[in-house]
Amino acid sequence: MCGIIGFTGDIEAKSVLLDGLESLEYRGYDSAGIAFFDKEVIKTIKTTGKVSVLREKAAFDTISDSTCGIGHTRWATHGGVSDTNSHPHTYGNVTLIHNGIIENYHELELELAKTGRQPVSQTDTEIVAMLLDSLYEGNAFAAIKKAIAKLEGAYAFCILFKDEPGVIYSLRNGSPLVACHSKQGAIIASDMVALIKYSKDYFVLPEMHIARLTKENIVVTNLEDEIIVPKLLHVNWDMTAAQKGGYPHFMIKEIYEQPETIRSTILPRIKNKHIPDFTADGIPDTVFEGVNRIVIAACGTAMHAGLVGKVMLEKLLRIPVSVEIASEFRYQEPIIDKNTLVITISQSGETADTLAALNLAKEYQGTTLSIVNVKGSSIARSSDYVLYTHAGPEIAVASTKAYTAQLSCLYLLAFRFALVKRTITEEECVNYMEQLQAVVPAIEETLKFDKKIEEICKNLKEKEDLFFIGRGLDYALSCEGSIKLKEISYIHSEAYAAGELKHGTLSLVTDGIPVIALATQDSVFSKMISNIREVRARNAFVILVTNGEKEVDESIYDYHIALPELEDSLAPFTAAIVLQLLAYHTSVHRELNVDQPRNLAKSVTVE
Ligand code: F6R
Repeated sequence: MCGIIGFTGDIEAKSVLLDGLESLEYRGYDSAGIAFFDKEVIKTIKTTGKVSVLREKAAFDTISDSTCGIGHTRWATHGGVSDTNSHPHTYGNVTLIHNGIIENYHELELELAKTGRQPVSQTDTEIVAMLLDSLYEGNAFAAIKKAIAKLEGAYAFCILFKDEPGVIYSLRNGSPLVACHSKQGAIIASDMVALIKYSKDYFVLPEMHIARLTKENIVVTNLEDEIIVPKLLHVNWDMTAAQKGGYPHFMIKEIYEQPETIRSTILPRIKNKHIPDFTADGIPDTVFEGVNRIVIAACGTAMHAGLVGKVMLEKLLRIPVSVEIASEFRYQEPIIDKNTLVITISQSGETADTLAALNLAKEYQGTTLSIVNVKGSSIARSSDYVLYTHAGPEIAVASTKAYTAQLSCLYLLAFRFALVKRTITEEECVNYMEQLQAVVPAIEETLKFDKKIEEICKNLKEKEDLFFIGRGLDYALSCEGSIKLKEISYIHSEAYAAGELKHGTLSLVTDGIPVIALATQDSVFSKMISNIREVRARNAFVILVTNGEKEVDESIYDYHIALPELEDSLAPFTAAIVLQLLAYHTSVHRELNVDQPRNLAKSVTVE
């Protein structure tokens, strides 16, 4: 959803910006641009296409001594994909880049037209450059503060003023910005991945504060002109985590990281006699006391993790749990009170709809707990309690390791909650936690199916439609399998509760239609087999996934993947790996851009 970066320091800015943009490219890849000071002049290079195209274009520019500039990688919102609409945008004294959406840009444009100002692009961003220029009388702070009073919407900006060479101004409202000062200079960006080369310590720019970056330091002031010192955060991963490390794509690297990311998410929390303990996360048991209802709100894959979580939470707690699509939930009048625990789940911690759902839950006095991957992100900061997934940076647009880390947190949460509520005994909990740890070697085993799955996917690459079916936890997982395949292979697919097929969808099952049948749950195994027979009778091409070796009539499937046997409720962890690999290899066979699928972006900070 657009990546932005600003650098001012002692080394050449262009390469810092281009390298930074490459690491931020997962956030948007329609077009890219940089602007930098060439003595007293601001020079802009921008283009449609990827950062590599920008890099080629920038190579023709011989300026190599500029040490201050800003860069942008775009995911188009207002205005089509064109060179003119690419950022940075300049108007008069002001050159800026933006991540977010200015909702009242049209009103502002009409107002500015009265002063004779006309934009050349169709973007909301250029209007902000015009606005700032109209308000600028030699004092950047004053102009920015006046502009803030007029702007509606979500934004993160890096701004250059022509008569202040070497200085970058930044501010944000609802879109992320993190910054650090290292020995090379001051750097600010949408995501820590662009900073990690320079420092592991950083801070989140507080909303509605202005950062002034110079090579010497970063000064942050609030709108009352008081200097504030933001809290420094630390990441424990390094550059290698944000690189492909020999894998052809980030997605496959991230799939393979899952044994480690699950271990890192679970182990620190079950030190104490193998009972989940959230003391270090600052989540006391009192959070769970008195809770009589749970609402989970999230988007996409994170919401699908919630669907699995619901099954576990209801099973263990015997209280109602609803899973809400955050973009719908945010406009409803939810049934939430002080006895409702609202769990929001988000990898990025910046998803606008999930953040809005969280804020609504707070309005209704619910207790809010978030499962988030990115430290210090907006959702993490706005929640009463946070349970971090320790998945490290997830760069591929298709979420993989964050999903299984989210499941890990939900399972831990369900068990701690159940202990507090006394719906399980300590012994049962210890026993289950041992089994939960067995997920890690089971995933390692499952990854060995990689080659077989790659073979299977040769049968899928020419298909136009596909179905995922399952019951209970397998249905929740089917939803995830379907989104993963759709988003990166562009094959239409649907997830169906297997028992529901005959109520309409079965008419779509014809000769050779692939059906991924998840049958990992013993309690409904025979029912699933009957449903598979139904699709097989219509000549579906069936890929069967079971939890452990099962006696199954060989005539009902084309391929069978027998996962390493786990306790049934843990099968989603291993089955998810199969679904991720299916999506991955199908996309590769179709020669698509696996990591950056068309029209999508990683962190969806707009509605
Ligand atoms: C799919 C995917 C998306 C995200 C969704 C929420 O692979 O990645 O569906 O899960 O956009 O994003 P976060 O988790 O950052 O809130």
